Amino acid sequence: MKKGKFIVFEGLDGSGKGTQIELLTAKMKKDGRRVYRTAEPTLSATGGLIRDVLGGFIQRDAYELSALFLADRIFHNINPLNGIKHFLDQGIDIVCDRYYYSSFAYQGKDAVLDWVMSMNLDCPEIIRPDLCIFLDVDTESCDKRIEDNRFSREIYENKAEQEKIRKRFFEVFELLKNTENIKIVNASRDISLVSADIIKIYESIKEI
Ligand code: TMP
Repeated sequence: MKKGKFIVFEGLDGSGKGTQIELLTAKMKKDGRRVYRTAEPTLSATGGLIRDVLGGFIQRDAYELSALFLADRIFHNINPLNGIKHFLDQGIDIVCDRYYYSSFAYQGKDAVLDWVMSMNLDCPEIIRPDLCIFLDVDTESCDKRIEDNRFSREIYENKAEQEKIRKRFFEVFELLKNTENIKIVNASRDISLVSADIIKIYESIKEI
């Protein structure tokens, strides 16, 4: 059987990933594809340890956090019930909200980037996506969306951090430009225009 496609969405907090993931998965299902929507951090026990840090309840440094995200990601790939590999092998597409690119940008701005990248990219159990869509929105607009939609902010959800993370994302995309399929989409526009661009990108990879 043909393997499923593995699509990742990335972007700053408040960049509108949830909305665009919803629109793309609806289109894929309409096309008759089987799609599994997932996200990182996962709902695993390790994901819970990570959420405690993101919520500011427990402090951990960037190396500890990188290792936790790595463990969570390995579990996300290999767990036999609802892991990424399990679904791809059955021909089911995966649409994932964040993946290792987030570790490179968020932890890789504080920990040594090479270390964060190699432990993810060299891990044989971590599957490489077919496509990464980065929703590019300026930090000002993201900050406003966070302010309007959330009751509390997580540790990275402030403008100074988001500026550094955005810069890191672009440095990382430059490093990966020959080995990964990364598409940057201007997501400051109307939701339907952004969605139309994303669907075009998906259509360019769906039969490959
Ligand atoms: P979200 O559920 O709102 O996307 O929040 C997840 C947060 O976790 C977000 O601030 C980005 C952060 N994160 C990392 O720092 N490293 C990672 O590897 C991943 C997957 C997420």
